[in-house]
Amino acid sequence: MPVTALVSAKSCGVTASALALTLASKRPSLLAECDPAGGTLRAGFLNADATAGFGLYHLAAAQRTGPEALSNAFVNHLWPLDEAGHRKLLPGLTDPAQAAALERTWPRLSDVLHVLADQAGYDVFIDAGRLALNAGHLHAQLTPAPLLHQADLVLLVVRGNEQSLALARHVIEPLRTELRERGSGPDALGLLLIEDGPYRTHQVSDALKTPVLGALPWDTATAQYFTTGGRPPRGHARSPLLRHARTAAEQIEAAVSRRRIQQEYPARPANPQLAGVLQRLAEQRRGNRG
Ligand SMILES: Nc1ncnc2c1ncn2[C@@H]1O[C@H](COP(=O)(O)OP(=O)(O)OP(=O)(O)O)[C@@H](O)[C@H]1O
Ligand SMILES: [Mg+2]
Repeated sequence: MPVTALVSAKSCGVTASALALTLASKRPSLLAECDPAGGTLRAGFLNADATAGFGLYHLAAAQRTGPEALSNAFVNHLWPLDEAGHRKLLPGLTDPAQAAALERTWPRLSDVLHVLADQAGYDVFIDAGRLALNAGHLHAQLTPAPLLHQADLVLLVVRGNEQSLALARHVIEPLRTELRERGSGPDALGLLLIEDGPYRTHQVSDALKTPVLGALPWDTATAQYFTTGGRPPRGHARSPLLRHARTAAEQIEAAVSRRRIQQEYPARPANPQLAGVLQRLAEQRRGNRG
């Protein structure tokens, strides 16, 4: 299954969209909240149930011990998003000042996410926050650059209005160049359109010279619930946002499959040091059932 990273030029729905895709996926799924500016799901959607002792920041300390420690810690810091534990969240940073400690963790975390996707069939979504550039490249501390370089797909989230497109125009070429020079290729880049505004899919594609790989409707009630938590709105499982997210997740998977066939890109080398993550996940699943 694919590892898909979502980014924006400026807050336009990355977190709500990533959560919608994770909840709507037909497979086991994982949302890694890796926005260096700090995560919002813990205080919002999770209603502060997950304490600060839990989440992404703690992986930095584990990574300093070694890859095995990182893969063990990773499973302990996943928060279940459903009772069966099929959907999981790695809650994000509680303080943007923590981001500097993660710089060396991103490449190893990326390896773990790819093991989950390739070997355990997880649909992995990464909330990579807003793009920050430095001398034309992704900023080393203000973006989780290695996660974007290694993702199967990088989706720039845009809204269908002039303000959003105007900002996206400035970041799209540097992002494409970054993926060409340091990532898995410029064709890893696509758009996720939030249908807020007059621009339709083909217009957005033309304006940014990049394919729109999925579209999500403007659905205030569901998005609000995803961002602030509280009581779910009635029938939210059948809400427009979740229904369209299901289609978008399928389109994303199809786009990654096409890319794999076209590029014939080599399978990632197996990393035996990370095999523990699969074992720990299986144990967790057995624990959930027992
Ligand atoms: N599909 C949608 N329909 C309606 N409102 C939406 C939708 N997606 C996001 N929103 C709203 O837009 C606002 C920003 O959403 P969100 O927090 O997901 O953006 P973000 O890109 O992650 O922002 P930040 O960069 O600040 O983390 C929230 O109020 C959210 O409810
Ligand atoms: Mg966000």
